[in-house]
Amino acid sequence: MVMKSLLFVLVLIVGFAALLAEAQLLGGILALTQIRGTLFCSVNGSIGSNSTTTPVFPNALVQLQCGTGNVVASATTNTAGVFSILLDPLRFVLSSLLTNCNLVVKTPLATCNSSLPTNGILISALQFFGRTVDGIINIIPVEFIFLLN
Ligand SMILES: *[C@@H]1O[C@H](CO)[C@@H](O)[C@H](O)[C@H]1NC(C)=O
Ligand SMILES: *[C@@H]1O[C@H](CO)[C@@H](O)[C@H](O)[C@H]1NC(C)=O
Ligand SMILES: *[C@@H]1O[C@H](CO)[C@@H](O)[C@H](O)[C@H]1NC(C)=O
Repeated sequence: MVMKSLLFVLVLIVGFAALLAEAQLLGGILALTQIRGTLFCSVNGSIGSNSTTTPVFPNALVQLQCGTGNVVASATTNTAGVFSILLDPLRFVLSSLLTNCNLVVKTPLATCNSSLPTNGILISALQFFGRTVDGIINIIPVEFIFLLN
């Protein structure tokens, strides 16, 4: 009985160690991952050529979709058009985030400007941006493009 529970504990420890190893990114610390960006109210969600004239896109639902479109996290842009998604480092591995996942803006662009499309989505791949002094891994969108769906 004692042996059995010892074995069980051992299996737990090995399993946890494997998870930890998987979560070790870039420096061997369990790092929180933050995906952050600003959405603008333009045909492609980007700032365009004139930052003084492009308004931001507040209250937009931004989803993190992975694989075949599974929604794994989401956030809403604030009044400054900024969204931020914090990810559990045990569930997400940086390399797979960057190759398997996209940001998708579900709120129609017409919500912020009625001349913009009422359907379609903005979609962007992800890229590694850097790491803060406190170890948070920062990921940003590559570039949003508009897709009719
Ligand atoms: C996005 O749209 C703006 C105009 O709204 C344009 O100036 C800019 O070049 C576009 N960017 C891309 C990457 O298509
Ligand atoms: C941006 O727009 C403002 C206001 O319309 C204008 O004064 C400024 O010259 C523009 N800047 C550029 C780089 O086009
Ligand atoms: C709304 O979108 C149209 C088409 O892109 C653009 O010409 C117009 O300047 C936008 N209006 C505002 C308030 O941004």
